[in-house]
Amino acid sequence: MASLVVRRSVVLAFLVLLVTLSVEGSHFRGATFSWKPIPNDPDTIQCNFRVSWRRSSGEGGDCDQTTINTNRLIGSGNWDTPEGSLPAQYYCTDFSVQEDWSQGSNSMNVSMQGNTVTDISFDSCCWITVQHPNGGTHDPDWNLVAHVDLSVRPDTGRPNSSPISASSAIYRIQISCDTVIRIPREDPDGDVVKCRYASVYSECGEACDPLPFSVLDEDKCEISYRTSMGSLRPGWYAMALTLEDYPPGAATTVGAGLSRVPLQFLVDAYTSNNQCNMKPVLTGRTPQDRDRVLVPGGGTYHAVLEAESPNPGVSIAEISTVSPLGMIKSALTTDSDNPPL
Ligand SMILES: *[C@@H]1O[C@H](CO)[C@@H](O)[C@H](O)[C@H]1NC(C)=O
Repeated sequence: MASLVVRRSVVLAFLVLLVTLSVEGSHFRGATFSWKPIPNDPDTIQCNFRVSWRRSSGEGGDCDQTTINTNRLIGSGNWDTPEGSLPAQYYCTDFSVQEDWSQGSNSMNVSMQGNTVTDISFDSCCWITVQHPNGGTHDPDWNLVAHVDLSVRPDTGRPNSSPISASSAIYRIQISCDTVIRIPREDPDGDVVKCRYASVYSECGEACDPLPFSVLDEDKCEISYRTSMGSLRPGWYAMALTLEDYPPGAATTVGAGLSRVPLQFLVDAYTSNNQCNMKPVLTGRTPQDRDRVLVPGGGTYHAVLEAESPNPGVSIAEISTVSPLGMIKSALTTDSDNPPL
């Protein structure tokens, strides 16, 4: 069994945990964006974003433990906002040398310049090399688009806040195994949140394809890969989703949401002879899936993540996290009472 210790010292924690075993690499590897009104300032929104890059690229290359500890801004690129271009630089929070990615977040306050409705976007070239669903590969342009509407809601008496999501930079699918990708989501207003592919309003640049041989449950925000529908070709797949929020009880038709925000990530389809039930699992003192932890401002949250591999031939190399700013993660240790076999 392997474990590591996580501590953090600021507000809100949205932990996404997953266990990874191996390798691979190439610039854009996905992102999420959310926004909320600033109390008593009807013209400004606070935007939070999280972005993933190939670590061996200019945007991602400076992310190491020192960058995280010293809270240094890295990265490049710009958000297109009503105020003009605002830097997409970020504070690195997570990285993997083995898997060649880095991920971080930042927030920016954006003046609506007197508008109630606007779009905020970030587009450029390119995603890392990914599969075309019908064959071959490409390095598509990415586009992230968030739709902001600051009107006062009749039901709450205040402006809306967008849904919030968080995603690992990579989800892994063993090609021979049925797999469900669960997209974490939250809504500060308690709204219903649905997920759909971003192709409806061209909110996805050149990477708009659904995952082949899978079904997206828009209500549950789950992508189910079904081997009965066919087999993925090995490689990377770029996924571009849009999350929309609807007041409880309202019709949940596409485009009718109070806001729209992007969630983009990668799926790595790989071949392996491992049995499908032999995947590493989180165990022991690890927080439960979908746990929500509120940490008072200035407080400290401490958690231990433990994982084990049911496959005697496989040991845990790394426990990846999607970390809030301020989280410190210890090195991986092996439990001496429960060593790898
Ligand atoms: C945005 O505004 C809020 C409220 O005034 C403030 O607490 C926060 O620090 C600001 N964020 C940035 C990135 O300037």
